[in-house]
Amino acid sequence: MEIFLDTANIEHIRQAAKLGIVSGVTTNPSLVSKEGKADYEAVVKEICSIIPGPISAEVVVEGAQAMTEQARKIASWAPNIVIKIPATAEGLEVISALAKEKIKVNFTLCFSLNQALLAARAGAAYVSPFVGRLDDVGHDGMALVKDIVDVFRNYQLPTKVIAASIRHPQHCVAAAKAGAHIATVPYEVLMQMIKHPLTNVGVARFLSDWQRLSKK
Ligand code: E4P
Repeated sequence: MEIFLDTANIEHIRQAAKLGIVSGVTTNPSLVSKEGKADYEAVVKEICSIIPGPISAEVVVEGAQAMTEQARKIASWAPNIVIKIPATAEGLEVISALAKEKIKVNFTLCFSLNQALLAARAGAAYVSPFVGRLDDVGHDGMALVKDIVDVFRNYQLPTKVIAASIRHPQHCVAAAKAGAHIATVPYEVLMQMIKHPLTNVGVARFLSDWQRLSKK
């Protein structure tokens, strides 16, 4: 399973890039707005220059025509941009048009298998089931990830599944077990993934044993 970072925070992206395990980034209008930077183009271009993999940037207009035009414009900002299009009927229309132009789409705000299947048929490069938001309303978000992975495999659909709206490290474990191609994780969750108290205890013990030996 690949790891994408789910943020628009440039400092976090730079820090995570040093670890050598981040192969893409997903942003959304809320994440960009949280950073308080009004120049959307500049933020997205900077992210694209830090991480060479797929960078998802979302359209922020409504209507098929307007979304298609804005998607084309955003896609021209950098060669590694993927356009996030919401899981609606108009969104499907946009994906079909963009797929013909070889513009990659991440079908976002996906909450059902039917939405994911239709996105794959329209030519989406990625679908993003929102695990945490489904869990929040009493559904099993990870069961949806598994269902989409299984169905795409059954029909050999090339669309990749991004487990999104990840809230904690156990979501990453479950996404990997469910067969998600990618998990997009907040920076805090990424840092939690590497931590284990027994590793810290082990390192401290190894170092103190080593120092005792060097004092002899
Ligand atoms: C994914 O592409 C989205 O940006 C993100 O995972 C949404 O997560 P949230 O439900 O925590 O806002």
